[in-house]
Amino acid sequence: MGVVLLSGCGAEVVQPYSHIAPTNGKTEDIQTLYKIIFWAALIVFIGVQSAILYTALRFRRRNEERPEQVHGSRKLEIAWTIIPAVILLVLFIPNAQVIFKHAAAEQGSDKFDIDVIGKQWWWEFRYRDIPADPNNPDAGPLVTANEALIPVGADVLFHVTSNNVIHSFWVPQLSGKVDVIPGHDNPMQFVASTPGEYFGECAEFCGAAHAWMRFKVKVVPEENFDTWVTAWRTPPATDGNPETADVVEVPPAFGVCLACHRVNGTNAAVALEGMPGLSGYIQGPLDTNEADAVSADNQQSAPIDPQIVPGPGPNLTLLACRDTIAAGLLENTPENLERWLKHTDEVKEGVYMPNYYEQGSINDEQVTELVNYLQSLKPADGCPDEGLLVGGQVPREEVEATDPRPDSGNGTPIAQ
Ligand code: CUA
Repeated sequence: MGVVLLSGCGAEVVQPYSHIAPTNGKTEDIQTLYKIIFWAALIVFIGVQSAILYTALRFRRRNEERPEQVHGSRKLEIAWTIIPAVILLVLFIPNAQVIFKHAAAEQGSDKFDIDVIGKQWWWEFRYRDIPADPNNPDAGPLVTANEALIPVGADVLFHVTSNNVIHSFWVPQLSGKVDVIPGHDNPMQFVASTPGEYFGECAEFCGAAHAWMRFKVKVVPEENFDTWVTAWRTPPATDGNPETADVVEVPPAFGVCLACHRVNGTNAAVALEGMPGLSGYIQGPLDTNEADAVSADNQQSAPIDPQIVPGPGPNLTLLACRDTIAAGLLENTPENLERWLKHTDEVKEGVYMPNYYEQGSINDEQVTELVNYLQSLKPADGCPDEGLLVGGQVPREEVEATDPRPDSGNGTPIAQ
């Protein structure tokens, strides 16, 4: 622990959640503002404390004589109006400059657009310009959850929104916080200049599992990104059962998962994704106005319950190649998959995924079948190389792996 504290000051140390470790022009701008405010605050602090100290010593009570009264002093009134105004101006000008600069960077058509949808409690990433199936662009975009890959050099524009509650999308080393608000398309722009893994988290309390709404942005070399897209589009090698080895049929045990999870390239293709209620593909809109609008558009739709719905779960395509499961909570290992399937709500309190095992809907054998299947969700020749250990960026091993949860006695520690 002491080593960690001491090393916290070193420039070489990996600080994935630190907002004072900028990695691109945008976060450097924010860092500059932070420094200006820090030094201004320090000067004010020292000034005020010195004045208090001076006054207390210089004008301490020595006798019964009443000291000179300064109430209504014009000089003083003017001084303590102008000084704060000047300080505010000094802070305001660079802030306004940065706000306009960053807003301008969000403009332009040549962006790498990704829709980011804050769910309870995980993140869906939808690659607007990358069709899931290049031969059938109407089939929707490439979709993934909690780990977004980005080709290096891309001018990324995340379109951040929600169909449930308000979250806050934050990758401290890439950009500032962006509110995730139902019905709003809030931009978060940055240039993916340095390859590496960038850690993000939800920065606004959004319910029981708010603290377990982590994600990663991986900036990878372009050829590795292309490999990843190809791998994503490649149907899984097997259903986990070597006897049938059917690439399209999901195993029978997956039947309980179908309503919420998709696996592209297989027959697990019924679950809804994206913005149910806002895009109009299912019921469950955000509020009564939205409900009225949807009803008016489609009189045949079922009666709409104007209630917040958590919506379906993450797309599981290429799941075996993700680093973590349950939105950054557990390392992606067979043991943890089993733990997650068997003790879902114990691992992540408040989670919407039903605990089918404890409910008796699936047994041990079926859990094993599911774990094997989930482990098999990768191309036959293995997971795509993300190319992240070249180019002098953050090697994964340097990141601290700890599980701060009180009940972490069993299972594997969190992979950060
Ligand atoms: Cu989502 Cu906090």
